Amino acid sequence: MTHEIAVLGIFAADAAFRSARLPQRGETILGDSFALSPGGKGSNQAIAAARAGAKVAMLTRIGTDSFGDMALSTWAQAGVSFKGTQTPDHPTGAAFIHVDSATGDNAIIVAPGAAGQISPADIDDWSKTIRAAKIFMCQLEQPLDAACHALEIARSAGVTTILNPAPAASLPPDMLSFCDFVTPNETEAESLTGCPVTTVEEAEFAARELIRLGAGAAIITLGDRGALYSSGNSQVYVSALTAGPVVETTGAGDAFNGGLATALAEGRNISEALRFANATAAISVTRSGAASSMPDRYETDSLLASPKSN
Ligand code: RIB
Ligand code: NA
Repeated sequence: MTHEIAVLGIFAADAAFRSARLPQRGETILGDSFALSPGGKGSNQAIAAARAGAKVAMLTRIGTDSFGDMALSTWAQAGVSFKGTQTPDHPTGAAFIHVDSATGDNAIIVAPGAAGQISPADIDDWSKTIRAAKIFMCQLEQPLDAACHALEIARSAGVTTILNPAPAASLPPDMLSFCDFVTPNETEAESLTGCPVTTVEEAEFAARELIRLGAGAAIITLGDRGALYSSGNSQVYVSALTAGPVVETTGAGDAFNGGLATALAEGRNISEALRFANATAAISVTRSGAASSMPDRYETDSLLASPKSN
């Protein structure tokens, strides 16, 4: 089976603690709840795309431990094909997530584990899957040299490339030139361009700067203010949607990227793709967890049929 979307990224078991605040150094506080559930930006994006109806291949490294089993069962359940490598020498990725009980906002520490070992040689091994896809998408939780190599291979095979530059990192100089789309949030856009991104106007400026740095187009996600697309000469702004009270924002960016990749793989135009991505993210924040909060196609289409703007 050919996959429409190939995702390079990491899986992490998310250990999520809800509490009113983070403890200070040396302090113990009581939390409100704990949940262990599937996460990792790349895996979350793959799940979001698969639940939206795309055929998705996941490229990563996992260990042979219980979190590795969690990864395999998560992908099997969502219909994502694992085309990466499972070996016993390193543990599967894991993340500590603090969820603010009042707002649903999060603070995260992620240890990529086995996925931190992904090398350019792995990318060569996986290149058949990359070249055969319509869309190739990656983030920055695995080593940069591997991501850069994969984007270059995809680009030279005529595959549409999406880089979600999260978490923020400084990129090798030519990396953005391999990206048809770069999809930072406000802070990531600031760190890539050095320009402040606090308003839609500033986002337009930063998007043009990302294009000057080599990207084909930039999509800057603006949290509850929506998202801005720019290709240099054309811009599209979409405001955020509301699908209900916010429970947890972990994975909202991943929902957006998974939805975006799916809509682009279906050949939708950029306005439709942004709306679909936005709706996917809007639903995800009404539920706890990251991968487990991704909506299915029916839910996203229903929200788009009767949208409530933020
Ligand atoms: O984007 C959210 C994800 O970031 C979480 O699932 C966590 O694993 C970290 O990788
Ligand atoms: Na969520």
